[in-house]
Formats: sequence, C-alpha cells, structure tokens
Amino acid sequence: MKNESYFIPNTTTTPDIQTYKTQWEAPSNIALVKYWGKKDNQIPANASVSFTLKNCKTITEVAFSKKENNLHFSFDFYFENHPKESFKPKLNDFLTRIEPYCPYLKAYHLKISSENTFPHSSGIASSASGMAALAFNIVSFEKVLYPEITEEYFYEKVSFLARLGSGSACRSIKGKVVVWGEHKSVPQSSHLFGVEVSEIHPVFTTLQDTILLVDVGEKQVSSTVGHNLMNNHPFANQRFIQAEENLTTLLEYLKEGNINGFINLVESEALTLHSMMMTSNPYFILMKPNTVAIIQKLWNFRTQTQIPVCFTLDAGANVHILYPENEKDTVQHFIQTELATHCHNHQFINDCIGNGGAEIG
Ligand code: DP6
Repeated sequence: MKNESYFIPNTTTTPDIQTYKTQWEAPSNIALVKYWGKKDNQIPANASVSFTLKNCKTITEVAFSKKENNLHFSFDFYFENHPKESFKPKLNDFLTRIEPYCPYLKAYHLKISSENTFPHSSGIASSASGMAALAFNIVSFEKVLYPEITEEYFYEKVSFLARLGSGSACRSIKGKVVVWGEHKSVPQSSHLFGVEVSEIHPVFTTLQDTILLVDVGEKQVSSTVGHNLMNNHPFANQRFIQAEENLTTLLEYLKEGNINGFINLVESEALTLHSMMMTSNPYFILMKPNTVAIIQKLWNFRTQTQIPVCFTLDAGANVHILYPENEKDTVQHFIQTELATHCHNHQFINDCIGNGGAEIG
C-alpha cells in the first residue's frame, strides 16, 4: 500500500535549472457516487466515482524561476491575464500543503497564469480543474528536475497533489471514469489519489453531459462548510455505508452497460447528497425552484420517450443532464426547447466524457 512518504522525492540534490515554463490543461469532473464528508488531510469519508469531462477545463501556465535563497516558495497569480489577489490565500494554502512533497519549490518563484474555458461566474466548480491543472504543471517540472520518475508515478503524484488542493480534483487527472478512496471492489484504489476504471461498456464511454446553469452566483455553501456538515450528522454512518455499496453496484452497471440501473443509482445519489444537506445542522436547501422544475420535466420526458436520460447534481442548483451519444439530437432539442427556459439567461454548456489532463504546446 502506497503511503504519503512515497510522494517525497528521495533525493537531496538542489536543482540547478534557472528558468522553466510548463503549460497544462485539466478538466472538471462530475461525481456519480458523491464524496461528501472528509477526515483530516483531505482523506475522504467514503470512496467516490466520477466521469471526467472534456470541454469544461482550466488551462494553466507556470513559469518557474530560481531564487537567490531556497527558504520558502513564492508566487504570483494571474487569472485571465490579470493579477488576482483574492485567489492567493487558497493557492498559498495549497502550496504550503504540498511543499513537503515538492521540496524543490522552495528554491523557485512561480508565476501562475490560469484561465477557464467556462464562464467563471457560471457556478461550475473550478477548483477541481484548477487544482488539477496546477498539480500537472508542478509534477511536470519535477520530471524535468528528476527525469527518472515513471509515468505511473507522474500521474499518481499529480492526483495526490491535486487532492491536497481540493478532494474532487484528484479525479480530474487521467481516465474517463475515476475512483477515489479505498474500496474493496477496486484493488488498487487509494485514499491518496484517484485511479482509472477501465472496464466500461461502450454505451457509457461516449456519455454526454449538458450542464444547465440554474444559478450562477457564488456557492451558497463552501465545500469546507459542506463536508463539515457530515461531522455529527445523524445519518452520516448510514450514508457512508450506502456510498460504499453504491460504488460496487455502479461499477457493475458501468461494466455491463446497465443503463436503467445507472439512471436509478445516479439520481438517487444526487438526491441523497441534497438530503444530507437538508438534514444537517445548520441545514440548507441548495436546489432552486428551477432545479425541481427541470427534474420534473426530465422525468416526464423520460417516461414519454423511453430515452435513457437522467440527471445528477453538485452541491448547488445547477443540473447535469446525462445521456448516451446516440440520443444527442433528441435530448439536445428537448433541452433547448423545454429546459433552457429554466436556466439563468437560457445558459447551458454541452459537454461529454473526456480523458483527463494534457500538456499544451
Ligand atoms: C458535492 O472536492 O469541492 O461535488 O475537498 O473541500 O475541495 P474539497 O471539496 P470538493 O467537494 C466536492 C463535493 C461534491 C461531490 C463530488 O465531487 O464528489
């Protein structure tokens, strides 16, 4: 079993590279079995599984320049070409957390420049793609300093670092379907990083996801507050047991191509996530009237057409509509004519399953 010390470079050589630039993109992901509740050091209370997205991504460039001293890292942050001071505390926490695993950072100043392919105010969580893209850049630089690191180590370390920035980010690294958290059905699974699940039936490998932007404001409940709601939650233990079972069942459905089973489990997971928020203390209702209107129209559409389309939710009001590629035209017509009216400024984003991060240039 790999532990944290596996990710500490076992060399004390001081790198002598003066300047270096890396650029990577990483996508967002959508959880099917949700991560909700965590322990110290970004260890999840239950294992989760997600689909990697393709179009919703963050593109990040890092310029590393050697400093006079090597006492502590330093950095600047630019978002869409403008300095963005408000993001710096979160980045500072992230770099502080990863420094023991990336001691070489102490000798460098990092100029980090980022942009998203989706509107920043869309209510889409950019922390997963953002932390994943940054982690890619850092480990990519590590590989320049220590070329002997293997491809397997590279991806595991990117996921490991991304997790320390935001839990779900560790599922945005590599593969269409990713499990994060130790789980008996996935022998190589780990609390420390995400692992790719490769036994996926073709009906799922081209899955479509249209994200309906119901509420584009700031998150009503931050993820930190949200996960903490599961401490002392009256239903927490039962929920963690259920998530464990749901993961086993979902992996079977994904392998067999059982789309009706998939629909049932994925929608139940989304509503369970929201039920956890409604039954915690303090309690929250993160769905909006338009969220519920969309779900009801979707259910009617499914009953009438028998098209295997379903929804899932994040910790917010937006709705992800999931459907097979061969139903794309009909479902997108339905979204355009029936569901867009429930979205903020009729906005939605068409996305589909993707493969993870990639180097640019
Ligand atoms: C509801 O990964 O944003 O989207 O680890 O605190 O950054 P932190 O939390 P975060 O939580 C995501 C919660 C979720 C479910 C999921 O993605 O599994």
